[in-house]
Amino acid sequence: MRGEYCIGGASFLSFVALLLLIFVHVGQINTSLVPHGIAMAKVNTSGFGQAFSNTTHDPDQGLYTTNYTSPLGQRNGLRQIYEFGLYSYCAYVNGSAGTCTNHTIADKFEPYIALTSDMLSNYSGYCDALFANTTFINSSYLGYNSRVAYYFMLIGTILATVALFTGVIRNALFFFISTASSIVAALCILIGAAIWTSIVKKCEGINTLELTPLNGGVISGMIVSYGNGIYLAWAAFACLAAAAVPYMVSCCTFRG
Ligand SMILES: *[C@@H]1O[C@H](CO)[C@@H](O)[C@H](O)[C@H]1NC(C)=O
Ligand SMILES: *[C@@H]1O[C@H](CO)[C@@H](O)[C@H](O)[C@H]1NC(C)=O
Ligand SMILES: *[C@@H]1O[C@H](CO)[C@@H](O)[C@H](O)[C@H]1NC(C)=O
Ligand SMILES: *[C@@H]1O[C@H](CO)[C@@H](O)[C@H](O)[C@H]1NC(C)=O
Repeated sequence: MRGEYCIGGASFLSFVALLLLIFVHVGQINTSLVPHGIAMAKVNTSGFGQAFSNTTHDPDQGLYTTNYTSPLGQRNGLRQIYEFGLYSYCAYVNGSAGTCTNHTIADKFEPYIALTSDMLSNYSGYCDALFANTTFINSSYLGYNSRVAYYFMLIGTILATVALFTGVIRNALFFFISTASSIVAALCILIGAAIWTSIVKKCEGINTLELTPLNGGVISGMIVSYGNGIYLAWAAFACLAAAAVPYMVSCCTFRG
């Protein structure tokens, strides 16, 4: 009897973890309600136009676009909000209207490229100087790490599914497989979530970056923040780690 409660609890935790991970995966795949609400990282560029004018003494005319359907990455104009998911990113001209890039497996998190590829080339040229020596501009570092994090999260998601389905079969071997899957899944999600947390944290450096330190400084006006996808991933890790305990107990005490 106790074994059955264990399995029930472990299955429930695995199910919740899998659900959370599915939400993480659908983040920013399109602009409809749920995917729009989930991102790994966000960049709010609203204040950048003013900061840019103050720094360069040039007006920011034509820096932003208000056409929310115009394709991204083709110098059609900067959007106010950029939100990054695991397969694509979307950019919004206001809280609701936006467009997304095509989907790519293991899409790289390269916020600087995303932003500057929407600007006219004279603006992006300035940005290369303004953001020099920040992690934010280091697209190869961010891109590589986000890819590694993606593969850990993908493997974690697959193993969470394995744990959920093998955990309900009354057989010592399957209980062993579900315990092992749950532990390895938790480790993979832990690594993926930790990498994402770390790279977004490093990008947050631009939130306080002074564009012209020699002249007293104008804050960049760009605001990088964690997306809730990172928190969902941490919650999935907690569920998987917690599920491993009852799986292990069942594995030892409930041989079918
Ligand atoms: C973006 O930042 C501006 C201030 O710079 C703020 O007023 C606005 O609410 C922010 N937008 C979002 C969606 O967070
Ligand atoms: C917005 O962009 C789309 C796609 O490039 C284009 O077809 C449309 O005419 C643009 N709308 C306006 C008002 O410029
Ligand atoms: C956002 O922009 C779109 C297109 O310009 C507009 O239809 C919509 O009402 C705007 N939404 C908000 C909340 O301002
Ligand atoms: C995105 O997908 C569309 C339709 O499949 C294609 O026409 C377009 O070239 C793609 N864009 C990029 C940047 O790959």
